[in-house]
Amino acid sequence: MAGGPRSYILVLVLGASGGCGRWVARLAAQRGHEVTALVRPKTPYTPPSGVQVQRGDVLHAELLQRVVAGHDAVISCLGLKRSSRSLWAKLLSPPDLVSRAIRQLTTIMSEYGVRRLVVISAAGVGSSRMKASWPVRRLIRLAACPSNPSAPDFRGWLSRKA
Ligand SMILES: NC(=O)c1ccc[n+]([C@@H]2O[C@H](COP(=O)([O-])OP(=O)(O)OC[C@H]3O[C@@H](n4cnc5c(N)ncnc54)[C@H](OP(=O)(O)O)[C@@H]3O)[C@@H](O)[C@H]2O)c1
Repeated sequence: MAGGPRSYILVLVLGASGGCGRWVARLAAQRGHEVTALVRPKTPYTPPSGVQVQRGDVLHAELLQRVVAGHDAVISCLGLKRSSRSLWAKLLSPPDLVSRAIRQLTTIMSEYGVRRLVVISAAGVGSSRMKASWPVRRLIRLAACPSNPSAPDFRGWLSRKA
């Protein structure tokens, strides 16, 4: 119907080259949404049909300013980069990558009136903590141990949300 509400949204996917982000971008585009994938400059990425690509580092505020404008929603599939898939492998990203990126992002989203944000967290964070089995909860505690500086630091989230 001309002039009626849109049946699709303009969505920006952060971390679109990652395991979750690739699916999010593909599935959103398949459902008829207009998708922009934010991908780092050197990361190989072939966008699914209909997905626009913007290149850059999510910690660069100027980039976020440029790409956030005009979208209805942002979906963050950002994750910390490690030298291998092991949870204890050398951390290549700043440990506070996601919190820094989301802090900047929400400020910029407010400036541009972009009101919808979805962020993938991790099993064991917040209210999902008690759904994790005892060994998994223990593993998360160990991973957040201060003696392991390359481990993800979930302590703030765990204590705040638990
Ligand atoms: N995989 C799971 O089963 C699972 C389950 C539950 C929750 N999660 C959570 O979901 C999130 C994503 O998981 P994943 O497995 O999809 O992670 P992943 O495959 O490692 O993807 C992480 C994404 O973040 C991007 N990224 C990292 N640093 C960036 C930067 N500075 N600027 C722009 N992009 C950057 C990566 O880009 P590059 O490709 O350039 O490195 C990649 O696209 C994580 O927070 C994870 O904890 C995952």
